Parts: sequence; C-alpha cells; structure tokens
Amino acid sequence: MCGIVGYVGSQNPNGRPLEVVLEGLRRLEYRGYDSAGIAITGTEDALTSVAKKSGKLANLVEALDASPLPAGTAAIGHTRWATHGGPTDGNAHPHVVGELAVIHNGIIENFVQLKAALLADGAEFQSETDTEVVAHLLHDAHKELGDLTAAMLSVVRRLHGTFTLLAVHSGEPDTVVGARHDSPLVVGLGEGENFLGSDVAAFIAHTKEALELGQDQVVTITPTTVEVVDFDGNPVEPRRFTVDWDAAAAEKNGFRSFMDKEIHDQPHAVADTLLGRTDINGRLVLDDLRIDESVLRSVDKIVVIACGTAAYAGHVAKYAIEHWCRIPVEVELAHEFRYRDPVVNSKTLVVAVSQSGETMDTLMAVRHAREQGAKVLAIVNTHGSTIPRESDAVLYTHAGPEIAVASTKAFLSQITAAYLLGLYLAQLRGNKFADEIAEILDDLREMPDKIQQVLDRADHVRETARSMADASSVLFLGRHVGFPVALEGALKLKELAYIHAEGFAAGELKHGPIALVEEGQPVFVVVPSPRGRDSLHSKVVSNIQEIRARGARTLVIAEDGDDAVLPFADEVFFVPQSPTLLAPLLTVVPLQIFACELATARGLDVDQPRNLAKSVTVE
Ligand code: F6R
Repeated sequence: MCGIVGYVGSQNPNGRPLEVVLEGLRRLEYRGYDSAGIAITGTEDALTSVAKKSGKLANLVEALDASPLPAGTAAIGHTRWATHGGPTDGNAHPHVVGELAVIHNGIIENFVQLKAALLADGAEFQSETDTEVVAHLLHDAHKELGDLTAAMLSVVRRLHGTFTLLAVHSGEPDTVVGARHDSPLVVGLGEGENFLGSDVAAFIAHTKEALELGQDQVVTITPTTVEVVDFDGNPVEPRRFTVDWDAAAAEKNGFRSFMDKEIHDQPHAVADTLLGRTDINGRLVLDDLRIDESVLRSVDKIVVIACGTAAYAGHVAKYAIEHWCRIPVEVELAHEFRYRDPVVNSKTLVVAVSQSGETMDTLMAVRHAREQGAKVLAIVNTHGSTIPRESDAVLYTHAGPEIAVASTKAFLSQITAAYLLGLYLAQLRGNKFADEIAEILDDLREMPDKIQQVLDRADHVRETARSMADASSVLFLGRHVGFPVALEGALKLKELAYIHAEGFAAGELKHGPIALVEEGQPVFVVVPSPRGRDSLHSKVVSNIQEIRARGARTLVIAEDGDDAVLPFADEVFFVPQSPTLLAPLLTVVPLQIFACELATARGLDVDQPRNLAKSVTVE
C-alpha cells in the first residue's frame, strides 16, 4: 500500500536527504499515489521541516520547487494509499507534533480509543488519519523518555493493527527510527549513510546490500550504525542479503509505460525463473526450497492461496499439478480461506503465491494454515518480504521488480514456478509422469522464444484495441487452462481501462452468461489446441459459433495452424503451438497487450490505475 523511505547520512548533507528520499518515493510511487510528503530534520535552524501534497508525487515536487525545504541530515518520505481520511493535503503524511514527524503504512485499529484519550488530555488534531494519533503518542513519549528509540518501543506496545512507522525528531538529527508489525520494512546499508524502505526499490539506486527485518522489530539507523531490537527491547541479528537486480531494471528503458516494458520483459522473466534449476543430468533441483523432501513425498492435498492475478496463476497450477502429480489441488482466494474453517492438516501443502510477498490477505492465510499444522510453500517474487519469511519453504520467481500496478511478468513467472513445483513433486514421488519430466522441461525452455514471437506480432492486437477504445463491455471465454487466462484478461481490462469485463468458463456460457450477448458485443475466446487429447477444441469452436450467431464480435486467440476458427472469427490472434498445459504463458500475452493499449488509447495511466495500489498490505 503506502511507500515509505527513510534516510540518514553524513555525506554531502546539503541536499542529499531530500534527493535520496524523493528518488526513493519516485520508485515506490507504484505502492500508493493518493498523496506524498517528506520531513527533513538536522537542518541549520534545528527544526523539523515538512512538505506534503495530495495527488501524485509530481505535485509534491512542484510544491518543493516553489518553496524548497532547508537542507538537513535525515529525512523520511511517504506516498499514500488512503485508508482513514480522504486523500487531502492535511491527511497526507508525515504527521507532525512539535518537533516530531512520523509516517505510517497500515491501519491502527484502536486509534478511536487512543484518540479519545489524547483529546481528553487536550491534544489537538489536524487530520482525520489514524496516524496522527501515533504522532501525538510518540511526541509525548519522547518528551518523557528523551530518546526516539525508547519512545517508539513504548508506543508500539499500545498499538493494535498493522504498521510500519518511521519517525524523526529534531533533537536527534542523525537518527531515523522505524518499527514494523505486519507491514514491510527493509534496511539499506550504505557507506556513511543508511536507508529504510518499504522495499528495496526505495534505495536500489544507492546500495544493493540490505537487511531483512522480522515481525515486531524496531530499527534505529544513524549514518554509521544500524541497531535492531524486538518490541521488548532485546537485540536481534537481522538477516543480510544482496539485491539481485539493479536500478536500471526499475526504469522504463524507452518504453512508454512500465507496464509496456514489463510485458516485453516476459521472455526474460520466464527464462530467469527457469534458470539454474536443473543439474547436469537434467533433473530438477530446487535448492531455494529449503524443505525436507519427505514432507513433499507425504503430501496428500495441495491448497493454493493467493489473490487477484496471483490466484489465476494458482488456477493454472491446479491443472498442471493435478495432471502431473495426481495430488488433489484446491485454489482458494486467500481472504476467504481462513474465515471458512478450511480442512488442512500436516499432510496438506499450502502454496502461497504472491508477487510482493506482502499481501496481507495472503499472509494471514499463511499464518492460519501453519496454525492448523499445514506446511506452507511460498512462490514469491520479492526477496526480503514477509510471506517467504513466515513460510516453511520458498520458491522465488525471478521476474525482477514489477513497478506497474497491474501484474504481467510476475504472472508468467508465477505460472512458470508452479510448473517447476509440479514437475519437482512428480520427480520426487516417481509417478508415471516422472519419465516425461525432461521432455516437459525442454518444452518449457522453448517458451521464452515463443513469448517473444507473440510480442513480435503485437501490432494486430494494438490496432484492434485502439479501434475498440469506446467499448463499454468485453467478455472473455476460455476452457481448461484457457479459463484462468480469460479471467486474467478480464481483470487486466477492468483495472486498466475501467471497462466492464467478465471472464467465464466457455462451458458455462449456456448456463447463463450467453444472455449478455447481443449485436456487437465483443467477446474474446481463448481456444485450446486442436492437438489436445480430447474434443475440447471443437466444443470451444462451437461456442464461438453460438455467440456469433447472436451477434457477438468474436476476437479469437488460437494456435498457429488452427484454421478451424477462421470462418467464425472477426479477428484472430495466433500464438505459436505449445503443449496444452503450457499455453497460458502465450495466450495471456495478447490480452495483456490489448488491455494496455486500449487503456492508453483512452488516455489513462496504465502504470497507476485509479484506486489501486501495488502491494495490498491491509486486509
Ligand atoms: C492485478 C494484480 C493484483 C495482484 C494481487 C496479489 O493486476 O496485480 O490482482 O495480483 O493484489 O498481489 P501479490 O501477488 O503481490 O500478492
């Protein structure tokens, strides 16, 4: 949700904190873009100075150009995704009381009670946010204890909910103090300077060396020291890691949007997720998994938990894993999972899929599954995030940073990682597909080139999208692994172009949705391979005929050589041939391009769609 940056340094104090924090905010703006703000301390006048503005970061930058802040030694900055209180200047962070400034990601659930007590003591509030309560509490605690770390420790114990907090105080100009509870925070290690961020993107332009903070920890950074304690004040040794991508990976590199760039990054994302995962005999080795093989051998059920696009990757995983491993797989939206008393036990493998590794719904489902005795394996893209740390095993996707709010390359790499997991389980359990694993892996290795071929044919999709800029509703149909692809195509279009879009299993059409079809209704149909083993292909071709007979404009995604669709398609987008189970890596790409292009044609910001945030750290 919100993006948080903290900086303290003795180097070049004239301007560096401001420059570093604004640069960090620019890289984190994808996390929330309702408002932005910054506080600087260690200034010549020994005060804490603040600037904040509603709207995108550009508004803050404009305000700072018109009225610059003084130079200082430490700064904190925030991009907001509003929860309590609308996106106004006054509700923007930092919140300041006296010489103390604080920024916050998360929700303080007991803020009403805390605020009532503060009001009774005469405190005055400037905003409608839950965060301002923390500013008052920290200010009062600092007054009493004279130390920002001690103040933070005393305040966090009184807060319920989820939070990452960063605070500065002009009385301690060389210090930024942070706290995390159920919300992300990482430390960046510099030379004579240190950084804090919601994720490593905040400081990747300055350092790749980082520390992962655990749950319920308080961190104090100065230019030369980093000290971490738990909420009881006991010292803890955080895990150090090196970020495996560089700042250029988080730039647009000439593309008009991050989304466009990330769509074009997909051949690499899939290739990188496959890289180094076989030994010289062609056997799969998933070194990063860190789970006892006997556990994986004894699993009798898999439950995939995830949200949104990641859940659609889970749907594809179900088809592949059940087919290859003969283990029953359920897919459940993470936010439904723990509230319905699910049947999971020590023989259940729960697979949590998440790009950010921070999605609160998924994290809560992970915790619930582990409480029930299940083992949890996380498929996650972001190193240093919470979900892998709280899981029993982790399989990292290597999609690199995904900046556009709508997921594209992370989706393809999640599907790829799920294939690897399915094949690995089949290999371990030695079932009838074990002999075919090498062959399937060869097919998988060909997928990056085939994705590139789909990208090379994008012009036709783009033209079609531009011609449909005024569409008010688009339907998407698919069957087998084409069904989650249809769902994903619809989600991309809704979130980017704000058009009504719905995905259906093609077989479900006659059970109701066909009533929506009228003259001119655009319908995408994801057609399975005619080389598949059963009659699915001809059934889906019949569906195309049924909707066309009722006036639909049919937009068909089919594999090269599938001439059977031609008489019934208004437009056909061909993709290279591939084994049925692997086809989603190809068939979803035209749908991503379609949504991106149509939204662009409508003049919308595809990287930062309205009301959304990249990493959803509230339930
Ligand atoms: C859609 C999208 C979201 C995310 C969902 C889960 O384009 O990006 O639906 O897939 O919020 O996020 P992660 O994967 O970070 O858990």
